Amino acid sequence: MRLLGIETSCDETSAALISGNPSDPLVTLEVNTVASSLSLHKKTGGIIPEVAAREQLSYILPVIKETLGVSNPLAKKPPIDAIAVTVGPGLIGSLLVGVETAKTLAYLWNVPLIPVNHLMGHIYANFIKTGSWEKAIRDSDIEFPAVALVVSGGHTDLVLLKDHGKLQWLGGTRDDAAGEALDKIGRLLKLSYPGGPAIEKAAKNGNSKRFLFPKPMINSNDFDFSFSGLKTAVLKEVRAMKQLSDETIADISASVQQAIIDVLIKKTLNAALQHKAKSILLGGGVAANQKLRDEFKLKARRYKLDAEIFVPAASLCTDNGAMIASCAFFNYKPVLWKNVYANPQLYFATIES
Ligand code: KG4
Ligand code: ZN
Repeated sequence: MRLLGIETSCDETSAALISGNPSDPLVTLEVNTVASSLSLHKKTGGIIPEVAAREQLSYILPVIKETLGVSNPLAKKPPIDAIAVTVGPGLIGSLLVGVETAKTLAYLWNVPLIPVNHLMGHIYANFIKTGSWEKAIRDSDIEFPAVALVVSGGHTDLVLLKDHGKLQWLGGTRDDAAGEALDKIGRLLKLSYPGGPAIEKAAKNGNSKRFLFPKPMINSNDFDFSFSGLKTAVLKEVRAMKQLSDETIADISASVQQAIIDVLIKKTLNAALQHKAKSILLGGGVAANQKLRDEFKLKARRYKLDAEIFVPAASLCTDNGAMIASCAFFNYKPVLWKNVYANPQLYFATIES
């Protein structure tokens, strides 16, 4: 089976081809094309939804053409069996571009259309076998039950995956998502947008012990998170300073990064322990952070967990069409194109089973 995946929920426009057989534990990535309007958002220090939607419109057809390797995709049905598209959550203007394009192509080519929840997509980036150019690190297959941490710009959620499509939401952020906190703190430190990668870079030369920032809810007896207090603590620190030296920016970055990493790891490993998980799956843009990836593996060993940790290749942590196609492959539920709608409010609870 060969699937075309389309993702346009925010500022990335992506289309991908994946293939696999029903008994395969992983799908194979054939092509993954990603165009981003990030450079425009750098100028404004954040995403203006109207700007992102307009860019989606200009990128969507070129991205699909490049993925399929054809100059006119409307002329002939390509060798695919179905289309998967992100229907939410996300920015409505951006989502609509992908959803309406996918509906049109499904009708035109007469192929099934599978609506996909973007958050589930981030989890299913773990089920993609990438080419030799960027090997996903794995020694064994993903086994259920699995605990998944989705940590992106808009979401920080912990879910229990009992099997494909069988999930239970365990907890999530009560205010800012981890990526959102990094983006806002990046702005306070006058770093470039998005804050996550900029803070990771600055933190490399920093002392993570200089600032003792709060580690919100680290000891709470649940699987919820809260990151807005961390942002306020950085704001107070920055306001108290006359100027920000490069050294201070590096030290704040390292301290903030460490506080976020400590909370994410402790909550996730506790969830894995409590639910006797056999696998831990990371996903979402913040999971591209190398320190987070390294420390997860290190701390899991200390916890003596009987669970393997899986992290997608860094390029599959941020938004992409391959993860959407992968999710549809393992949760194959086509819906008649007429009945597929964008839903910006979609959440994990919407698909809890
Ligand atoms: O998953 P994603 O591409 O989009 C959403 O669904 O939100 O995640 C984007 C988020 C941004 O907040 C960005 O700052 C963060 O992921 N991010 C990172 C890194 N790369 C992206 N955070 C920390 N370290 C990184 N290397
Ligand atoms: Zn995302």
